[in-house]
Amino acid sequence: MRLVITGKNGQLGSALRMLLDQEGLAEHYGVTHVDYLGREDLDLTDKKQVLDHPIFSQMDSDTVLLNAAAFTAVDHAETDPAAALAGNEDIPANLAAVCATTGAFLIHVSTDYVFPAGSPGHRTSPWQAHDQIGPSSLYGESKARGERAVRASGARAAIARTAWVYSGDTLPEHKDFVSTMAAKARAGQPAIVVDDQVGSPTYAIDLAHGLLMLAHQPQPGTVHIVGSGQASWYELARAVYDALGANPDELIKPVPSHAYSQLAIRPQYSVLGTDTWRAAGHPDLPHWTHGLKRALAGDSQVHLEGK
Ligand SMILES: NC(=O)c1ccc[n+]([C@@H]2O[C@H](COP(=O)([O-])OP(=O)(O)OC[C@H]3O[C@@H](n4cnc5c(N)ncnc54)[C@H](OP(=O)(O)O)[C@@H]3O)[C@@H](O)[C@H]2O)c1
Repeated sequence: MRLVITGKNGQLGSALRMLLDQEGLAEHYGVTHVDYLGREDLDLTDKKQVLDHPIFSQMDSDTVLLNAAAFTAVDHAETDPAAALAGNEDIPANLAAVCATTGAFLIHVSTDYVFPAGSPGHRTSPWQAHDQIGPSSLYGESKARGERAVRASGARAAIARTAWVYSGDTLPEHKDFVSTMAAKARAGQPAIVVDDQVGSPTYAIDLAHGLLMLAHQPQPGTVHIVGSGQASWYELARAVYDALGANPDELIKPVPSHAYSQLAIRPQYSVLGTDTWRAAGHPDLPHWTHGLKRALAGDSQVHLEGK
């Protein structure tokens, strides 16, 4: 299978590149050739550029296009909805259009933000792939429209929702919650962290691995690919401080969401359930605490089934 990956310089794109560079991994998942595309290669919001690009026009039914490109500045989306829609609705729509004409399979990455933000305690069971979406932020709305565009395109496609992606020391050039907390913990600095939002922390390498499993056995539909277990931001921050020998009891102050001002509304409970992922025969990803240990050690190795 030929793989085309967009968003090659982003957090997920970098994790995919790192994983596919590991000896034997591409072969294990039947990948014979990979093309990576970044913003320097083309602007994916421009339909003509997408349709005319030779890497896209040469795709066929043996190609999987994995879209890791997106507009991901959640708060910025509230003040620049046009940019959010261009990145999160137009990009997947353009990629789905080229997949529909070439027969390539599209894997489009989406987010927990498509579900309603709710209020603390409103929900205690994981959102499953078939649950009704209803975004509460412009970022979530733009991602929901991207999902709809993919489904309406007629392309063979899977929507893979994920959440709370971290990479820590594995991708030091990318800033994420874990790398921010790790820098503070190493400097012995205090942190103020929200304790009433609960989600599915997901190691970027494990997410990349899950997406390669999906590319290997492409099945249309919607799946959730997230680290196992759940945590609040406070619990995740505590685990980072603990792992790095900084005392979380002294240094981390838990606060409720309303005391921490941010432009976009965050989901209060956005744990993603993996029913459709498991029904497709895939194993759950490692627990987030396992991913965290590896992220803090810069460990990008994954366990290959059957090896
Ligand atoms: N990070 C999370 O916690 C999280 C959680 C849930 C879901 N997701 C989803 O996971 C996916 C990957 O996220 P990520 O964390 O890897 O995001 P990221 O680090 O922001 O990477 C996105 C990449 O897309 C590229 N891009 C944006 N607009 C483009 C355009 N018009 N043309 C070409 N390339 C463009 C960006 O290029 P530039 O660097 O040049 O801007 C960037 O390299 C996204 O779909 C996101 O919604 C992420």
